[in-house]
Amino acid sequence: MSHRVFSGIQPSGQITLGNYLGALRQFVAMQHDAKAFYCVVDLHAITVAQDPALLRERIMDLAALYLAVGLDPRESTLFVQSDVSAHSELGWILQCVVHMGELSRMTQFKEKAEGKDTVTAGLFTYPALMAADILLYRTSRVPVGEDQKQHLELTRDIAMRFNSRFGETFVVPEVMMLKEGARIMSLDDPARKMSKSNPNPQSRIEILDSPDDIRKKVGRAVTDSDREIRYDPQGKPAVSNLLVIYSLTADMTIDGLVAQYEGKGYGALKKDLAEAIVAHLTPIQEKYREIRQSGRAEDVLRQGAITAAQVAEETMDLVRERVGLGGFRRR
Ligand code: AMP
Ligand code: TRP
Repeated sequence: MSHRVFSGIQPSGQITLGNYLGALRQFVAMQHDAKAFYCVVDLHAITVAQDPALLRERIMDLAALYLAVGLDPRESTLFVQSDVSAHSELGWILQCVVHMGELSRMTQFKEKAEGKDTVTAGLFTYPALMAADILLYRTSRVPVGEDQKQHLELTRDIAMRFNSRFGETFVVPEVMMLKEGARIMSLDDPARKMSKSNPNPQSRIEILDSPDDIRKKVGRAVTDSDREIRYDPQGKPAVSNLLVIYSLTADMTIDGLVAQYEGKGYGALKKDLAEAIVAHLTPIQEKYREIRQSGRAEDVLRQGAITAAQVAEETMDLVRERVGLGGFRRR
């Protein structure tokens, strides 16, 4: 049986090297031998305040980037979450399955709520919508970075609880994470993950950063105290993070890199790493600009919404029947 794959990224900022290495690259690799659905999750983005005009731009930016990194609309269904109303609908139903206690344990919620006077109810119930995204497509595999693991575990619990209460309905999905790259760390603080919402732009490399910005950011990245280049995520988290990024962008093993830089300083490593990132991202940036200007992404999203809605509606028919809801529109 071929696998069903689903994943999504929020159009809430510039896509980072962390998003790319942890998630997007897996999306591309997995589209060939699976039926894949890749979503721009705009409903998740509005759990925190977004400027409407900017949100619209970012949706188109992210769609163009999906295409630029190699997602192929002939292989994958690419669409915007809010174009398929079944996401909100199933999201509501699953809010009535998940427990408050489960949602309160989510570390992403705790982190995003920390220090805020108020947060929206949507930020709290966010994982129910995410579960809906995944379960609507009878997804068997979900490629994500490490920070989404807890949400995936909750999605599995929700699916199993629904199935046992209402009868077999949902496929219980598996999380797919890379061994290296599932958690790319900030350049200014190797204890925090690289994030598009970090207020310090020096903390991250964005996929669309200019070569000069990339060189500057890598040059200023923090390193660990001694001079030795060695892979040791506990003892030398900063240098280990740079080695992971280097290995994934240059397609070299970490051991090979450690051998290559033996006896050399951090300066040499950073200089070559910056060039490896520039070389990797330049062709993506060129494609991105061409796609963004052509308007091609709009056609892809229009077609994607039709395809996704068909699959999602089939699941919704079954869900309504199982739960005992309405259904008169079809009778
Ligand atoms: P988000 O930016 O929260 O919409 O994340 C989109 C995808 O990128 C998710 O699968 C995340 O797990 C993944 N991701 C985000 N930040 C990182 C990171 N620093 N390292 C690896 N994966 C990441
Ligand atoms: N919550 C994910 C993130 O912040 C984005 C997301 C929403 C997602 N729905 C999803 C990821 C479904 C995988 C599957 O990164």
